[in-house]
Amino acid sequence: MKNITVIGAGTMGNGIAHVFAQSGFTVKLIDVSEASLQKAIDTISKNLDRMVAKEKITAAEKTATLSNLTTFTSLAEGVKNADLVVEAATENVDLKCKIFRDMDAHAPASAILATNTSSISITKIAAQTKRPTQVIGMHFMNPVPVMKLVEVIRGYSTSDEVTQTVFELSRKLAKVPVEVNDYPGFVANRILMPMINEAIYTLFEGVAGVEEIDTVMKLGMAHPMGPLQLADFIGLDVCLSILNVLHDGFGQPKYAPCPLLVNMVMAGQLGVKSGQGFYQYAAGSKDLVVAPKFKK
Ligand code: CAA
Repeated sequence: MKNITVIGAGTMGNGIAHVFAQSGFTVKLIDVSEASLQKAIDTISKNLDRMVAKEKITAAEKTATLSNLTTFTSLAEGVKNADLVVEAATENVDLKCKIFRDMDAHAPASAILATNTSSISITKIAAQTKRPTQVIGMHFMNPVPVMKLVEVIRGYSTSDEVTQTVFELSRKLAKVPVEVNDYPGFVANRILMPMINEAIYTLFEGVAGVEEIDTVMKLGMAHPMGPLQLADFIGLDVCLSILNVLHDGFGQPKYAPCPLLVNMVMAGQLGVKSGQGFYQYAAGSKDLVVAPKFKK
């Protein structure tokens, strides 16, 4: 395993490309637009600068990491020599199925095809290909360079050998792989999203305010971010879509998304990426300011 291709240059894709490149792999990063690719390289460069400033890596290691990365707008070109492809495109089932059909057509027959999906069925994605034993979930956490976990999700047909290879690769990235089976939300989001949803219900029902709910969880449970801040960080649209997968997949009312979350997504209040969610975000500021709607 030497040649890694990452599809999608957004937050997760650029983080995944970063960690593979920093661990010495040759990485091809693919996206549909040159502008997104340039933005991803700039982000990786900035994150590496921060690591150099903190003396976690040397300037030479930064240069070596960037030299391991090349960018492509053509999927066929970008996957043609891949040993492993990690798909990190937008969380849309039709889009992912199409990408997997294209990857299957153009990547070497021996390549492992992984998806970073946070909730879409690996088995469904694998069924789009002629190599379902070589399709697997490789679910990284945001921010990828910092978070240690890789949730390794076995689809219905994923082979032991492929699972073992992905485990070894994850360890080479200094990550901790955890094996889970393919059911709605896997493990991470099956547990995380109901907690976030409950925090939103707690706000919706007026039990406590935004800061109070987050402070209880930060100081009471030693979470680095409160659940409402974390929801903003993940993206409220992403949280809603994962809750819908849990609700549809299990058919149980306990997974029904809180109406406040649904309204916020309809209003375009998506958290950090839209500048406002439960908090409001000013570019360049690290201050946590409660959004006017939720101020007391
Ligand atoms: N890239 C690289 N490094 C980063 C980074 C990034 N994007 N963001 C932060 N860092 C580094 C900082 O440089 C810093 O490094 P040092 O420890 O060496 O100083 C470290 O992370 C901490 O950063 P900060 O001091 O700026 O801020 P912080 O202490 O508040 O930590 C955080 C930031 C790591 C994001 C922390 O708040 C945290 O762990 N939050 C929870 C994150 C979480 O739960 N992620 C999972 C989300 S769920 C998911 O991803 C999956 C899904 O399917 C929805």
